[in-house]
Amino acid sequence: MEIIAVCNQKGGCAKTTTAINLAAALGLSGKKVLVVDNDAQGNLTQSIGVKEYKHTIYDCMTEDLSIKDAVVKTEFKNISIVPADLNYSNMEMAFARVEKNEFLLKKAFEKDKIQYDYVLIDCSPSLSLTTVNALVCADSVLIPLEPSIFNLQGLAQLINVFKLTMNNYNNKLKVKGVLLTRVDSRSNLSDDFAEQLKEIFGKKLFDTMIHQNVAIVRSQIEKKPLAYFDKNSKGHKEYVSLAKEMIKRG
Ligand SMILES: Nc1ncnc2c1ncn2[C@@H]1O[C@H](COP(=O)(O)OP(=O)(O)OP(=O)(O)O)[C@@H](O)[C@H]1O
Ligand SMILES: [Mg+2]
Repeated sequence: MEIIAVCNQKGGCAKTTTAINLAAALGLSGKKVLVVDNDAQGNLTQSIGVKEYKHTIYDCMTEDLSIKDAVVKTEFKNISIVPADLNYSNMEMAFARVEKNEFLLKKAFEKDKIQYDYVLIDCSPSLSLTTVNALVCADSVLIPLEPSIFNLQGLAQLINVFKLTMNNYNNKLKVKGVLLTRVDSRSNLSDDFAEQLKEIFGKKLFDTMIHQNVAIVRSQIEKKPLAYFDKNSKGHKEYVSLAKEMIKRG
């Protein structure tokens, strides 16, 4: 089982979109996937169409429940979810003074054994306690990045938080890869910039990149992963290619 945190404090860089559609592609290829909504916005929970649940990630971290207690099966092949909703926004305050509050999610994972091939944790657009909790229990981090020079600057901050987490709480944390998302080949990814990105990230940059694709937006309105909305869409094919690349990387 590999736990992957989908993480970037930049808002709207396709973390949730990547978590859902990568999960769908992995699920269809036969891998068992758990997606964890680690964001009080609850975007992941909503866009996978899960409305009925007994527990959220918040309960796992506050009530001594295990992750297993909060898992809900979805109608999509091999995908289960741990939901979140607005109550989770209390988390930062509730645990501000609790000792070792970086380990709450890890503890919830360790309480009961769960068996998935991949766990994808969809993080919020912040480097706050909830994100640190994800980094503490993750094996690796997948960083979606919209290719712009400003977004690169924000990445330095993210890398700092990784380093701090590695040094203090989780020395096995790795960078799984950097994924270029929402690429508009006409305007935001010149050949020069692409070369520059390759130089910075080296092998960590996924060969696959996700282009702007209107079917992605439509599928979210229909509350389905793209694979179940339009399996011939370019977006789905790109997420399938990402899934293959990820499996190959091991
Ligand atoms: N490849 C794409 N093509 C077109 N639209 C996209 C693509 N990827 C994501 N989007 C759209 O961009 C918006 C932001 O995506 P998403 O919610 O996945 O980002 P996020 O990083 O999870 O945001 P937040 O930081 O708020 O959690 C959404 O409206 C989504 O539909
Ligand atoms: Mg999101």
